[in-house]
Amino acid sequence: MTKNIVNSQIDCPQGVEIKEIIKETHDVKTFVLNRRLLNAKLGQFVMIWIPIVDEKPFTITQSDPLAITVKKRGKATQTLHSLEEGDILGVRGPYGDGVFSLNKKKKIMLVGGGYGTASLKILAETAVMQNIEVDAIIGADTKKNLLFVDHFKNIGAKVTITTDDGSLGIKGFTTFALFSLFKLQNQNYDAIYTCGPEIMMSKVLKIADKYNIEVQASLSAYMKCGFGICGHCALDPLGLRVCKEGPVFSSDILKKIDGFGYNTRDKSGRLVKWSEMI
Ligand SMILES: Cc1cc2nc3c(=O)[nH]c(=O)nc-3n(C[C@H](O)[C@H](O)[C@H](O)COP(=O)(O)OP(=O)(O)OC[C@H]3O[C@@H](n4cnc5c(N)ncnc54)[C@H](O)[C@@H]3O)c2cc1C
Ligand code: FES
Repeated sequence: MTKNIVNSQIDCPQGVEIKEIIKETHDVKTFVLNRRLLNAKLGQFVMIWIPIVDEKPFTITQSDPLAITVKKRGKATQTLHSLEEGDILGVRGPYGDGVFSLNKKKKIMLVGGGYGTASLKILAETAVMQNIEVDAIIGADTKKNLLFVDHFKNIGAKVTITTDDGSLGIKGFTTFALFSLFKLQNQNYDAIYTCGPEIMMSKVLKIADKYNIEVQASLSAYMKCGFGICGHCALDPLGLRVCKEGPVFSSDILKKIDGFGYNTRDKSGRLVKWSEMI
C-alpha cells in the first residue's frame, strides 16, 4: 500500500518498510525506504518516526525510492541504526518551503562538513544533470568521517577533500580550502551551497560576502512539529521557522540571524551556544 504513495505531502506518519540499508561510514547509514517521493524539492526533509522512541527530521538524499542518510548520535539515531531491512518507520513530509535553487547557475561550489554533506547530495546530482559545473569541498574531522566523496567524484564533481587532522586531503577546515581557492586560484562561482556545522557555514558566508557571491545554506534546528506550528525552530529575531521557511536560507537572511554560527536553541527552547550542544 505505502509504495503507491508517490507525490502527496503526508502530515501524519505513514508506516513505510525499510527496503535496504547501506553502510556509508563507520557511523553513517543510508536507509532506502519503500516509498517514492517524486515531487521532493532540492533540500527538503522528511520527519521520521522511530516507533516508541522519537520523531526526527532527515534530509531526503534520494527521492525514488526515498532514502535518508543518518549519522548515529543520540537515542533516536542509535535506535534507527539498530533496525534491519523489513522493519517499519513512520514517514511524513516532504517539508520545507525554503529549498536550494540552481536557477541561472553555470558554475557552483558546494561546501559540506561532516554528515552535512548528505544534504548536498541530490543538489550535486541535479546540478550535474543540468550541465552546471560543480566544484565541491568535502570535509570532516578525520578520514573515516568523510561522506560521499566517491559518489561526488563519480557523478563528475571536482572534489577537494579536507580533514582537520590531515589524515586525508588538505589539513584544515573546509573554509581554509575555500579561501585558498579564491585567493590563490582566483576561482569564481555563481553561488556557494553549504551544509554542516553552523560555525562552518557562518565562515563560508563571510568568505563569500568578501567576493560578492550568494550563499544558500541548509540550517539545522531542534524540531518538534516539523511543519510550522509549534515555533520551536524559529530563528531570532526574524521569527522564520527552519522547518517552514527553511531549511535553506540565502545570504540576505543568514546575515540577519542573531548569533548565526554561535547560538541555537536546545530541546527545551533555551538559547545555548552550539559548542554546548555538541
Ligand atoms: C532539516 C534537518 C535535516 C537534517 N538532516 C539530517 C540528515 O540528513 N542526517 C542526519 O544524520 N541528521 C540530520 N539532521 C539532524 C538529526 O535530526 C539529528 O541528528 C537527530 O535529531 C539526532 O537525534 P538523536 O535522538 O539521535 O540525538 P539527540 O540525543 O537528540 O542529540 C544527540 C546530539 O546531537 C545534537 N543534535 C540533535 N539534534 C540536532 C540538530 N537538529 N542539529 C544539530 N545537532 C543536533 C544534540 O545536541 C546532541 O549533541 C537534520 C536536522 C534537521 C533540522
Ligand atoms: S518544528 Fe515546529 S515550527 Fe518548526
